[in-house]
Amino acid sequence: MKLSGKIALITGGSRGIGFATAKILSENGAIVIITSKNQERLEKAVSKIPNATGITSDIRNTNDVKNVVKKIIEKFGKLDILVNNAGIFPKIKQLHEINEDEWNEVLDVNLTGQFRFTKEAIPYLQKTSGSIINISSDAGLKAYQGFNADAYSASKAALILLTKCWALEYAKDKIRVNCICPGVVDTDMTKPFLKTQKDKEFMDNEHPIGRIGQPQEIGKAVLYFASDDASWTTGAILAVDGGESIK
Ligand SMILES: NC(=O)c1ccc[n+]([C@@H]2O[C@H](COP(=O)([O-])OP(=O)(O)OC[C@H]3O[C@@H](n4cnc5c(N)ncnc54)[C@H](OP(=O)(O)O)[C@@H]3O)[C@@H](O)[C@H]2O)c1
Repeated sequence: MKLSGKIALITGGSRGIGFATAKILSENGAIVIITSKNQERLEKAVSKIPNATGITSDIRNTNDVKNVVKKIIEKFGKLDILVNNAGIFPKIKQLHEINEDEWNEVLDVNLTGQFRFTKEAIPYLQKTSGSIINISSDAGLKAYQGFNADAYSASKAALILLTKCWALEYAKDKIRVNCICPGVVDTDMTKPFLKTQKDKEFMDNEHPIGRIGQPQEIGKAVLYFASDDASWTTGAILAVDGGESIK
């Protein structure tokens, strides 16, 4: 088992990519801790993953974030893997239609939230020579005409650069920091864009491989980065997107 004895924290593990990732890491020997703000969804997810613990928390709240890491250390004594996955996708609007609250909300969850968890986790990852995997997006790599959600793109692009900054800064502690940029993946987040058969065909065709992705296809990439298979890989930005970003 690739992750035997490892303690892995996956933010936003109640559904979608985070849930699939937690399941895959658990199947590969890790003890997983998942977070989300919705307690009911979190409990349901925990019941489906062996060796999982759920901690209800809001990534926008610094005390909640501190409490998650504190509880993990109290219960398990260490932390090996942090997957910065929790995120939201706002309504698609042009820049001049977005108000400042909408902008701040997305940045608070998708960017400052990742800062909060990483900041709390680093002192423990320094002790275990641990690994951080950031879930960014193709939207952080390129612009999409008519499909821009500016605050989302800004948050995801920032996470790509932060991956490189953190990788460089903490290489001395043997912490590896890597990043995955998914294309469109079949989750609750993308449901609004996949309502009709026509929508689905459009999205499938946007990806050179001819289909959108499944959450476990991102989870398998996380497993690679979290395991010793990637022992010499840090600061890498991996598009897992059916070729979408090369167009
Ligand atoms: N799906 C895609 O096509 C796609 C593509 C590229 C990148 N991504 C990125 O992949 C990540 C996961 O996306 P997904 O598609 O799996 O989304 P999802 O199905 O909507 O799940 C989002 C997760 O984030 C959690 N979350 C949201 N706001 C939170 C908050 N304030 N505090 C704590 N947890 C919060 C949710 O918890 P609750 O259940 O409590 O709401 C849920 O567990 C995101 O960062 C997203 O930007 C997704």
